[in-house]
Amino acid sequence: MTDAAQTTFRSDLLAGKVAFISGGTSGINLGIAKRFTALGARVAVLGRDPEKARRAAAEIDAETGTEGAMALTADVRDYAAVEAAMANAAAELGKFDILIAGQAGNFPALALGMSANAFKAVIDIDLIGTFNLFRAGHQHLNLPGASLIAITAGQAVRPTPMQAHVCAAKAGINILLKTLAIEWGPMGVRVNGISPGPIEGTEGMARLAPTPEMEAMIKGGAPLRRYGRKDEIGDAAVYLCSPAGQYITGTILDVDGGTGVANGRSMPS
Ligand code: COA
Repeated sequence: MTDAAQTTFRSDLLAGKVAFISGGTSGINLGIAKRFTALGARVAVLGRDPEKARRAAAEIDAETGTEGAMALTADVRDYAAVEAAMANAAAELGKFDILIAGQAGNFPALALGMSANAFKAVIDIDLIGTFNLFRAGHQHLNLPGASLIAITAGQAVRPTPMQAHVCAAKAGINILLKTLAIEWGPMGVRVNGISPGPIEGTEGMARLAPTPEMEAMIKGGAPLRRYGRKDEIGDAAVYLCSPAGQYITGTILDVDGGTGVANGRSMPS
């Protein structure tokens, strides 16, 4: 299997829902924001760069034929800034039915090639950022029935050279989201994770597989023999956040074309 058709369905599955998406100004999370908007949700996307956030909101509106995607700026490492951005979004859009912690930092480096500050930068963005978003966002959730998703990665469960910082941060996210699923379930909050495989056209893949040879190697290790698309991560997020997923909490959904389960042992073509 080398390709798959992109689905472009529209419906009112998420009509009336409000979604706050950190990291939603680019990549996978922007893909999720577009998917949600096409299904009727109103979205706020949060990033560090105001111009990039503004462009992302305009792109969401233009591609989905809607208007009103909200652009917000904050560094997820700054709790007060996250709180302020969320208060803004809630005042404009209403309480959040969906909250996605999708921001991530990554660069390939051996442990001996990174400073303590470099390691901390990724822990702070990924793990502390996810805690900040979920902790600050809790007061703005539409309860019961709110759905939270943390974007994690296969590095959380597979030790990966040159990714010690990401492995540690994502492993922390996995156990954090499961713990919050237990603590917040009785309040009507579901907390899940999505673990994307290699997704085409993302900054992450540009950093991790910059050459055609590396790209071919990664595709060869995926049973489905291709990179995933952003809309396919969007579909997984729709599943977890929609009524179709309403009995699911504390789960991490691999959306990776089988990359993780094959773990380098995919059948030869
Ligand atoms: N190898 C080793 N160290 C590196 C590095 C690399 N390739 N890139 C950055 N660092 C180090 C910096 O030197 C710095 O350490 P120092 O203070 O000891 O010199 C530390 O990481 C923090 O870098 P800085 O640029 O100050 O932090 P930042 O907060 O602006 O950036 C990063 C955070 C480093 C994670 C940056 O890669 C980033 O912003 N990424 C966001 C986008 C992204 O990664 N997307 C992919 C998601 S999968």
